[in-house]
Amino acid sequence: MDICDYILHDHDEQRRLFAILDEVPREDADALGAIWGRLANLLEVHAQAEEELFYPRLLQVGKGEGDKDSAEDETLDAVEDHDDIREGVRAAEAHEVGTQDWWDAVYAARKANDDHMGEEEREALPDFRHHASAQERHDMAVRFAVYEAKHADGRGVDASERGAQAYVDAHS
Ligand SMILES: [Fe+2]
Ligand SMILES: [Fe+2]
Repeated sequence: MDICDYILHDHDEQRRLFAILDEVPREDADALGAIWGRLANLLEVHAQAEEELFYPRLLQVGKGEGDKDSAEDETLDAVEDHDDIREGVRAAEAHEVGTQDWWDAVYAARKANDDHMGEEEREALPDFRHHASAQERHDMAVRFAVYEAKHADGRGVDASERGAQAYVDAHS
């Protein structure tokens, strides 16, 4: 296993669940709510697991990749994006499933997540591949899987805004 592959797999699952929402009949609020519930939880738990396990270590070993000069810049950007995704999820949860306001909020979450995944995949993940050992990447993948399993039902998930600078200050 490799944490970078594991994260890619989660991203694919998020893309897939957004695509499934496209396929659910728009008048079927029960079905939309079921898919969205699973997706919203995955978005929250995935971001939280990255902040608990991946980014603290990237801050220690990363050197910057692509447009970023340092792991700190990659992390600031990522946590800011995670907060945008959380905002989209919270906005969707404030509206009745299937209404236009709900779809607008789901779209905002999808856009924030698409933008973030692209950046994470071409900056933070390559940086970690280049500077963490295969053993460490394996070990972190297992811990990440356990973390997500423990929070799969939403227990222990904190949906509040982290604040990118506060996060980096706390983990540097
Ligand atoms: Fe991610
Ligand atoms: Fe992320």
